[in-house]
Amino acid sequence: MENDCLCDGYAEGRYVLPLLPYDMTALEPLLDAETVSIHHSKHHAAYVHGANIAAETLRKIAAGEEADKWTTSATQNFAFNLGGHLLHSLYWENICPVSLPLPEGKLAEALRTSFGSPECFLSMFRNVCLGVQGCGWGVLGIEPISRRLVIWGVLRHQDVLVPGFRPLLVCDVWEHAYYLRYRNDRAAYLDAFLRQVNWQVVEERFNHCCMCHE
Ligand SMILES: [Fe+2]
Repeated sequence: MENDCLCDGYAEGRYVLPLLPYDMTALEPLLDAETVSIHHSKHHAAYVHGANIAAETLRKIAAGEEADKWTTSATQNFAFNLGGHLLHSLYWENICPVSLPLPEGKLAEALRTSFGSPECFLSMFRNVCLGVQGCGWGVLGIEPISRRLVIWGVLRHQDVLVPGFRPLLVCDVWEHAYYLRYRNDRAAYLDAFLRQVNWQVVEERFNHCCMCHE
């Protein structure tokens, strides 16, 4: 991961909960303040806490202070919670209080290459998000071998992902992300989400990844 915003999620040897880049009420009409507050201060915070616990357990095992038998469960817990921390950190940054126009320039060109057009990408991304079974994420990112853009339907926080994949746009489709406002209507949440994507941030992530490979 080379996304700059993720630096706010780690300090002094521990994972930390980054501040939201806007007020709790700012994401209307996409999300209400109660959803944002619970999602950030309870769910995201729990993943931060879980990542720290798992990392500490692994440190103790390495130091001989904890039994080896906990290695497997600690690595699994670490992947789940760190994945949650990472994806939520990206999520808060890639939605915004206003509706921005679809990207132009290099990102638009890459979307056209991989999906036909930015509009076609939106439709495919929506379908992938809609089709995630149970808890998971829709993720647009750069596939590390061909360098083309691809969309994944990620299960939980860490399943069905290619190593080295660079996420550019993530959408949380766990029910806690939308249930207070949209109940079981994930499609309505997705329509609102896609109207409030922070394309500026997505474009910055894309440009950053491209720069790192020039
Ligand atoms: Fe979430």
